[in-house]
Amino acid sequence: MARMNFRNRTVVLCVGGGIAAYKACEVARLVVKGGGTVRVAMTPAATRFVGPLTFQAISGAPVLVDLLDPATDLAYGHLGLARSADLAIVAPATADLIARIRAGMGDDGVTTTLLAMTCPVLVAPAMNTRMWANAAVQENVAALRARGMHVVGPEAGELADGDVGEGRLADPAQIALAAARLLGRQDLSGRRVVVTAGPTREPIDPVRFISNPSTGKMGYAVAARAARRGADVTLVSGPTALADPAGARVVRVETAEEMARAVDAAAAAGMDLFVGAAAVSDYRPREVAPQKRKKTPGEETLVLARTPDILAGLGARLAGRPDAPVLVGFAAETEEVIANAREKLKAKRCDLVVANKVGAPGAGFASDTNRVALVSSDELAEIEGTKEQVAEAILDWILPVLETRRPRDG
Ligand code: C5P
Repeated sequence: MARMNFRNRTVVLCVGGGIAAYKACEVARLVVKGGGTVRVAMTPAATRFVGPLTFQAISGAPVLVDLLDPATDLAYGHLGLARSADLAIVAPATADLIARIRAGMGDDGVTTTLLAMTCPVLVAPAMNTRMWANAAVQENVAALRARGMHVVGPEAGELADGDVGEGRLADPAQIALAAARLLGRQDLSGRRVVVTAGPTREPIDPVRFISNPSTGKMGYAVAARAARRGADVTLVSGPTALADPAGARVVRVETAEEMARAVDAAAAAGMDLFVGAAAVSDYRPREVAPQKRKKTPGEETLVLARTPDILAGLGARLAGRPDAPVLVGFAAETEEVIANAREKLKAKRCDLVVANKVGAPGAGFASDTNRVALVSSDELAEIEGTKEQVAEAILDWILPVLETRRPRDG
């Protein structure tokens, strides 16, 4: 059976009240074993078959049973489970629960959570074979499918009550496998990725600095998408207003020198891919005044010194080695975008430069969308979309290069 990888993913397991509820424990365990996070909601009837404590022990978090229970509301906030989910699994989905989901009811923690879900939902029905054959149940399941929900099982076999036929909950391993497939690609699993993002701040004195308007959105999108695809991600970030991307280790820094040191530390632990999306300040004031600089009547001269070029430094040290990490740089230009990107590709010895025209509509600093060109030594591809879509396109480009550089173990 294919390896089931749930790294950096949150699965909300909704447990219905049937005899197969105990098998849902195994589904939860398989997600945890695959490196994922499981959060559990149970119908009140489900708690008659398996105690919430069992699921709490497997998932390591409180179980949502009573919508109006202040303790679980504290843990998740209203509808917090729905917000956190990358995927919902309903197992076992009893005839009653299927009917309530179809009707759009919100009469307990499970149905309310499912009502608020925007992620894929996988339904694993389980019930007596005569109930499963009932036209109402079949119509309800068809309606759920028509709404885009996914269904796994039920299987045929001997049922708990002695009847033989279709109705048995799909094997927990099959449910977990279907879940892993729905969660999509994990093609960067086992890869160590270091991303820089945001601006740097180079102090002039204790209250002033040199910086730029980078928001960090592009680098954060690359870090988040790489983590989603299973990579082990370290994001070295200058000052930004963005929340830490899920699944990434975040190191916050201020200056270019601090960023360079943090990248070196992360690279020392092993690195398959470096993405330099930070807008690193090229210069810093040569002297930092220990006290606030006083205004003078005339002109002021600020002497600047160069900062370390992090990307070029990595290129000079590592490029050309058979086990070199894939190096990706960004180029924000106001003119001659492609020609400048090609220059940068050579000068910094990287594998790919993502070129951006600053000032073009729908691109660049602070924008949610981007129009970029992926420039390598023998290719040029234009990409347009949200920063998330651009991040995915960059990772798609990198994937085959990673394979040639350092094939994955096993
Ligand atoms: O030379 P330029 O600043 O245009 O190059 C941009 C690329 O180089 C980006 O990938 C940026 O993160 C990286 N860079 C760096 N360290 C610097 C300057 C730029 O890593 N000091």
